[in-house]
Amino acid sequence: AKVVEHTFHVGNLTVTKMCQKQVITAVNGSLPGPTIRVNEGDTLIVHVLNKSPYNLTLHWHGIFQLFSGWADGPAYVTQCPILPGNSYTYNFNITGQEGTLWWHAHTSYLRATVYGALIIRPRAGRKYPFTKPAKEFPIMLGEWWNANVYDVEEEALNFGGAPNISDAYTINGRLGDQFPCSANQTHKIEVEKGKTYLLRIVNAALNNQFFFSIANHNMTVVAIDASYTNPYVTDVVVTGPGQTTDVLLKANQPIGDYYMAAHPYISAAGIQFVTNATVGIVQYKTSRSRNSSSTPVMPTLPAFNDTPTAHKFFSNLTGLTTAPFWVPVPRKIDEKMFITFGLGVSPCGANRNCSNSPFGTNLRFSASMNNHSFELPSKTSMLEAHFNNASAGVYTEDFPNNPPLVFDYTNSNLSFGLAFTEKSTKVKRLKFNSTVEMIFQNTALIGIENHPIHLHGYNFHVLAQGFGNYNATVDEKKFNFNNPQERNTIGVPAGGWAVVRFRANNAGVWFMHCHLDVHMPWGLGMAFVVENGPTAATSLRPPPSDLPKC
Ligand code: C2O
Repeated sequence: AKVVEHTFHVGNLTVTKMCQKQVITAVNGSLPGPTIRVNEGDTLIVHVLNKSPYNLTLHWHGIFQLFSGWADGPAYVTQCPILPGNSYTYNFNITGQEGTLWWHAHTSYLRATVYGALIIRPRAGRKYPFTKPAKEFPIMLGEWWNANVYDVEEEALNFGGAPNISDAYTINGRLGDQFPCSANQTHKIEVEKGKTYLLRIVNAALNNQFFFSIANHNMTVVAIDASYTNPYVTDVVVTGPGQTTDVLLKANQPIGDYYMAAHPYISAAGIQFVTNATVGIVQYKTSRSRNSSSTPVMPTLPAFNDTPTAHKFFSNLTGLTTAPFWVPVPRKIDEKMFITFGLGVSPCGANRNCSNSPFGTNLRFSASMNNHSFELPSKTSMLEAHFNNASAGVYTEDFPNNPPLVFDYTNSNLSFGLAFTEKSTKVKRLKFNSTVEMIFQNTALIGIENHPIHLHGYNFHVLAQGFGNYNATVDEKKFNFNNPQERNTIGVPAGGWAVVRFRANNAGVWFMHCHLDVHMPWGLGMAFVVENGPTAATSLRPPPSDLPKC
């Protein structure tokens, strides 16, 4: 194992997109930021110099951070932000996971332009559990705003309504030629007929799930969220914000140019979005001269609201039990939680002015888990409070295992009781090594949409997912104990539920939240405090000396 070291200068970058110049926040002057490549077992050290005008943290999405929670990154959960002009070094070991992950800013909307791929290859002597690809390509799907993204979020939070939607989508930072002034901004990958390639697809968008296809080609899914799957052949990949999907692409079509394309999967009616697809080009190498004016073949993407296709994709993935880091599903459960997701309204809060809110004076959009809208602390991080045994005034340990009302789609009066939330900073405390089952019930009283729920510090097994009200008697029979997929982010189906399990074997404070950036500041989150294990090696390590202060 080796040490991989990077220095990230985070600052202003001027770019021209959609016919206009704009100043964005970017790492080392590039969009996306640098791709980090490590081998499993390596130590990664990233020196972050914040030369941007904003408070900043970076999160290594999906990295377990075993006992190194100080490097996890969510602002006010595991650290105070790096103030403008300041720096912080993230230093952690990457063990027990291989595949594609990514890193992104974990403050405000900055991750719209502050993100990059994090690729973990097998350590020396180990191989992929599939045929070695001729080449690998990171494919990062993103979203683009013509406006300053920090302002977009601030305006919405002050107003109390929803933020402006994005103006375009991107592949590796490029809009692709279906958007205005973007003809020479199309991402291209070159392939040779007969060879097989690995595409590491990351959904780095803030608020959109995507359908992704390549004209005339199938793809074989081999990993999701840096966890190997049984090979799954598909003509469309469905991916929610935060999720990654590794696919093998065989260049087995006639020599030519083929579009790869992504457009949103919108599970709810009435949600606004831009309907253009972002495209890239798969170009076959040829010795013959090519008619350069020929237009690439465009794939047929599913309709924007094609939930059956999305569900088929998500529910057909299974874990590869012969893979090196496969862990069996915990069968005995210590903590059983039933968590509802609500979208509703709540009081504006002391530090915001919602006097012109669309919901009436001093009300704002809010979201919740078990009717609690999660509020971040501001004077310290939760991890410091936990480490110093000083949680008073920072968080309370009474996050409930069940919602205050039994949610029921068939009884809208009862369900509507879950739209009005309470603001708080509540955590669930877990004993080291305890096993947890979470039943996520999507209530979505305002708009029925998927919520990509991301758990920091762990992968979980996905035992089952379905639609309507979760019914234990019937649905427990559908649990896959044998080879369930492992993920760090699950798209809880629109109008449905999902059941996941994990073992709390990583001490620290771990955020769990909706990875739609519009929902997170509304409170769709909570956190777990996981106690130390019996030894120093199973306890949270002390904080690094340069940990930022609030
Ligand atoms: Cu990728 Cu808490 O986030």
